[in-house]
Amino acid sequence: MDFYETINLRKSVRAYKKDPVEDDKLGRILDAARLAPTAANRQPFSLIVVKNEQVKHRLKDAYSQKWFFTAPVIICACALPDVAWRRNDGKAYVDVDVAIAMDHLILAAASEGLGTCWIAAFKPEVVKEVLSIPDNLEPLILTPLGYPEGVPVPSFRKPLGEIVREI
Ligand SMILES: Cc1cc2nc3c(=O)[nH]c(=O)nc-3n(C[C@H](O)[C@H](O)[C@H](O)COP(=O)(O)O)c2cc1C
Repeated sequence: MDFYETINLRKSVRAYKKDPVEDDKLGRILDAARLAPTAANRQPFSLIVVKNEQVKHRLKDAYSQKWFFTAPVIICACALPDVAWRRNDGKAYVDVDVAIAMDHLILAAASEGLGTCWIAAFKPEVVKEVLSIPDNLEPLILTPLGYPEGVPVPSFRKPLGEIVREI
């Protein structure tokens, strides 16, 4: 699939079929995240792939939408703040690094015909407990992964003229 087609195709998917995600597709999607650039190449992230039904179900205490915890796969992107690069003034770039990796993953999923949805509004302490995440890792973004049920409606975007300033 052409890159721009993939960008246009990706939408937040909030309804999933029960069909499992094939291992080869999942492998390619995870590898797209691995190949993401990170500041000073520190690669300060790790991914937890949840397929176990009981564990997914327990994640409903972190984010209660049914389309989330019943999707065939849930991926949790975690930040490793201690490993990440900081600018001279101390500004941490770990969230940028994790977001780039997650965007690679999410666009790769779209190009494989799979749906995802960025989720930040979860309870991190619950995710940490359910997924046994150690203290040096911070769960930053979750996404369900699976085949979309139906076609999501495109959401509004500001026109280019509103977000670009040419000098
Ligand atoms: C960092 C981030 C966090 C988000 N958190 C949530 C969330 O907690 N729950 C949710 O339903 N959607 C969440 N979204 C999805 C946005 O609402 C969605 O991307 C936006 O409305 C644009 O729609 P689209 O993804 O279909 O293009 C999040 C998106 C981003 C980028």
